[in-house]
Amino acid sequence: MMNKHFRLTLAALSAVVLSVGCAVSYEKVNSMRGTDVSAPDVPFEAKTYQGKKPGLQQRVARTFNEQPPVIPHTLDNFDEITLEDNQCIECHGLAKFKEKGAPKMGDSHFKSEKVDMTRWQCNTCHVPQVDATPLVKQNFVGNVSPKL
Ligand code: HEC
Ligand code: HEC
Repeated sequence: MMNKHFRLTLAALSAVVLSVGCAVSYEKVNSMRGTDVSAPDVPFEAKTYQGKKPGLQQRVARTFNEQPPVIPHTLDNFDEITLEDNQCIECHGLAKFKEKGAPKMGDSHFKSEKVDMTRWQCNTCHVPQVDATPLVKQNFVGNVSPKL
C-alpha cells in the first residue's frame, strides 16, 4: 500500500506534468499578416501602383512560359470592365493597338476578329504591380529566358 506522503508527491507531480503539457500545446494562432486571429482586421495600407500612365513604362520580363504578362502601367482612373465596356481593348485590341503604341493582345485572346469572352475580364489574369514585401516567404524562380 502507498503511503500518504508518496501519494501526495505523485499527485503534485502529475499536476506539474499536466500544466507543462498544457503550456506546451498552447500555441498562439496568428493570421498571415501576423495579427492575432481574434483581433479586428487592420485595414490594408493603400499602395500606389508602381507604373504610371501607359505609354512610358517598361514591359516587365516574364518569368515562366505562358505567363500572362503583368501590367506595367497604372490602372488608376480606368473604368471598371463591364459587359459592354472594356477600356483595355481600346488600347490593346486589334483596331487601335498600333495607334496607341500598345502591345497587341495575344492571338489566343481572339475568336475570329473578336475578343473571346473567356478573355474579356483581363484582370483575372493580368495584374498591376505594387512595391510590397511578400506576405509570406517564398523562393520562386522562373524557368524561361523571356522573349519580349
Ligand atoms: C491608354 C492605352 C492603354 C490602356 C487603356 C491600357 N493599356 Fe495596357 N499597355 C499600354 C501600353 C502603351 C503598354 C506598353 C507599356 C507602357 O508603355 O506602359 C501596355 C502594357 C500592358 C501589358 C504588358 C504586356 C507585355 O507583353 O508585357 C499588359 C498585360 C497590359 N498593358 C494590360 C492592360 C489591361 C488589363 C488594361 C485594362 C485594365 C490595359 N492594359 C489598359 C496601353 C494601355
Ligand atoms: C484567362 C487568362 C487571360 C485573360 C482573361 C486575358 N489574358 Fe492576356 N494573356 C494571357 C496569357 C497566358 C498571355 C501570354 C500568352 C498568350 O499570348 O496567350 C497573355 C498575353 C497578353 C498580352 C501580350 C501579348 C504578347 O505576347 O505580346 C497582352 C497585351 C494581353 N494579354 C492583354 C490582355 C487584355 C487587354 C485582356 C482583356 C481584354 C486580356 N489580356 C485577357 C492570359 C489572359
